[in-house]
Amino acid sequence: MKTVIILPTFNERANIASIIEALQHVFMDIDHDMHILVVDDRSPDGTAEVVRSLQADWRNVHLIEGRKVGLGAAYIRGMRHASTALRADVVFEMDADFSHRPQDVPRLLREIESGADFVIGSRYVTGGSIPKDWSRLRRLNSRGGNIAARYIAGISGIKDCTAGFRAIRTSLLRRIDFTALRVDGYAFQVALLHAALEQGCSIKELPVDFIERERGESKLGLSDIFEFIKNVWWIRLRSSRTFMKFAVVGASGIIVNLGFFTLFMMLGLNKYIASPIAIELSIVWNFLFNNYWTFRGRKTHDRTRVRGVKFNLVSVLALGLSYATFLALSFSFPTVPPQIHQLIGILPATLVNYFLNAYWTFKQIKPVQ
Ligand code: GDD
Ligand code: MN
Repeated sequence: MKTVIILPTFNERANIASIIEALQHVFMDIDHDMHILVVDDRSPDGTAEVVRSLQADWRNVHLIEGRKVGLGAAYIRGMRHASTALRADVVFEMDADFSHRPQDVPRLLREIESGADFVIGSRYVTGGSIPKDWSRLRRLNSRGGNIAARYIAGISGIKDCTAGFRAIRTSLLRRIDFTALRVDGYAFQVALLHAALEQGCSIKELPVDFIERERGESKLGLSDIFEFIKNVWWIRLRSSRTFMKFAVVGASGIIVNLGFFTLFMMLGLNKYIASPIAIELSIVWNFLFNNYWTFRGRKTHDRTRVRGVKFNLVSVLALGLSYATFLALSFSFPTVPPQIHQLIGILPATLVNYFLNAYWTFKQIKPVQ
């Protein structure tokens, strides 16, 4: 079985030689044709130079170089190269900074041998771990990413959706359309996992300890976080008919909301009173529509009566949120037409509305796809 460990690198001069040496050492006890593919994005620190000098000693070290677009773009290039030019049967995703331990490679590989198509070195299954000294922000970021992947993108049954340590069969990768993933950065991890699940492959999570890097620094940037958020919503939109229906209902609710608001204003009602009434009417409209259409097929624990009570609580919260937004905008931008304030107020209310209703009011007994 030809196995290629893909190491994306950007400014990893301090790590690249030692990680390659450490991997070669581990390879000695593996009974497969083991290779390393470094995907370097013209690192200014000369990472590629180091790799080239190592190639003189090791025939199983490969290097491709490109323009820096992002971690995902680098992986896509690396996976294409590994499965076509190098004809790999299995590829690994792995960081070059020792966050993933080389000695864990055989364990992941054994799981592939046992028939898995996609093996995740997971920090969030029993026995796995994240560094003890990670800051609250870092933990929150990692946890938040996984929560977003689960509840927004709808990936269920996987504990570590953003992991960067994975073994994947190329027979699976060849069935995936990389350009359709539409990601360049760290969001690639979730996008690839989702695409793999869509293919109906066998996935296995193995516990690993994630080690904080000692040399160099993380490349995760703000644009990666924005792309990540965009990506989970994009997956949601594409794959969930429920959300599509919810969006259609929401759009019709906007018309109801603005329609009544304008009507009340024409009838001479004060805009501060017209706003919450119009909001409430649109929420009731949305609930009825969602109850008898969007979530019609769901089996819930609650009786309609209890669902009604829960819905009312969600409504009050959504109304409060929408009205608070309206008030804040009215006072901050008094010259802007109030219809614009009312319209913007719908946005946060819709999101809260969807999540509380989808995962609480209409919570399905079985997990929701
Ligand atoms: N070629 C290339 N291009 N390599 C890159 C790029 C890029 O734009 N960005 C990062 N890398 C390389 C780094 O040089 C390193 O070898 C590896 O990708 C991981 O990058 P880090 O910057 O060290 O990532 P991290 O430690 O913040 O994030 C880790 O955890 C995330 C989940 O919490 C990684 O394992 C991620 O893959 C994972 O999603
Ligand atoms: Mn790292």
